[in-house]
Amino acid sequence: MEIFTPYKLKSVTIPNRIVMPAMCQYSATDDGHATNWHLMHYGSRAVGGVGLIIVEATAVEARGRLSGHDLGIWDDSHIEGLKGIVNWCHEHGATTGIQIAHGGRKAWGDELVAPSALAFPDKSTPHALSIQEIEEVIGHWKDGARRAREAGFDLLQIHAAHGYLIHEFLSPLSNHRTDQYGGSFENRIRLLLGIVDAVKTEWPEDKPLSVRLSAVDYLFGGLTIEDTVAIGKVLKELGVDLLDISSGGLLPASISLGPGYQVPFAEAVKREVDLPTIAVGLITEPETVQEILLNERADFVALGRELLRNPYWLLQNISDCDMWPRQYKRACS
Ligand SMILES: Cc1cc2nc3c(=O)[nH]c(=O)nc-3n(C[C@H](O)[C@H](O)[C@H](O)COP(=O)(O)O)c2cc1C
Repeated sequence: MEIFTPYKLKSVTIPNRIVMPAMCQYSATDDGHATNWHLMHYGSRAVGGVGLIIVEATAVEARGRLSGHDLGIWDDSHIEGLKGIVNWCHEHGATTGIQIAHGGRKAWGDELVAPSALAFPDKSTPHALSIQEIEEVIGHWKDGARRAREAGFDLLQIHAAHGYLIHEFLSPLSNHRTDQYGGSFENRIRLLLGIVDAVKTEWPEDKPLSVRLSAVDYLFGGLTIEDTVAIGKVLKELGVDLLDISSGGLLPASISLGPGYQVPFAEAVKREVDLPTIAVGLITEPETVQEILLNERADFVALGRELLRNPYWLLQNISDCDMWPRQYKRACS
């Protein structure tokens, strides 16, 4: 398994193993519509040969945005701009996913919601969602999935990582509920499972569904890799196709950073859950990518900031000029 080996996930063939992970661009209009920035930004990574481009955290409701200029998918008027991104990326050979998200207690603005009224440091205290409000929030994810389908995305990713709403339910550190959404492992994963079930009613059966998880909280009493493996097994049963393994974000924590520091988590999930995984985090070198793929530690490798620095990272690492866009062939040596 190497960088240029295509991977078929349901009906979607991803042409190579390089992924651009979701990265907020803070460039949408005030009401969440895509702009030319998005077209240029995602488009140039498609021209650069990235196999799967996952569009940034896109809010399923306005109060769930992470900034005032996040993309939104809470209204049908958002579909057209997203469709433009998908079409351009398709024209240039990339497959496209979208990460749908809700910021919960870490969202932007004053209307913070969470499993429990526990504030994230320096943020105001969130409103603890009632059961009826949880059901409404699940409905927003479902509607977001429908709009993602209508925009033509190849893959849908549910953002369940980085201390945002779903992760806040998953972790015992942020979820102190005493009803069916809190307490036991089964109760804390109930929101995620409800969202997966709801989006599956709208997301095409033949297209892959992905979930991004924070493998560990790096905190005593928080989520561990064993929890994440257990969550992954349930998600597999529910029909999730691809797990994107990140870490942290629930609360400030001390983390030993270094190249590929999260790869062991993706590796453990791949081995124990037996689902394809994306490894991510401080990966910049082609040799590192090859090592991860050749040793089957993950099925895909996501390059975040490296692709912000250089949209043509992949082209620069291809000696076969036939793979370059015809417009740029004279620069291939
Ligand atoms: C500018 C920026 C925005 C990001 N936005 C998101 C996001 O919308 N959703 C998400 O899951 N992660 C987000 N991330 C995290 C990245 O997807 C990725 O996991 C992280 O940058 C580590 O990978 P890297 O070391 O290759 O950059 C963001 C990171 C950056 C740098």
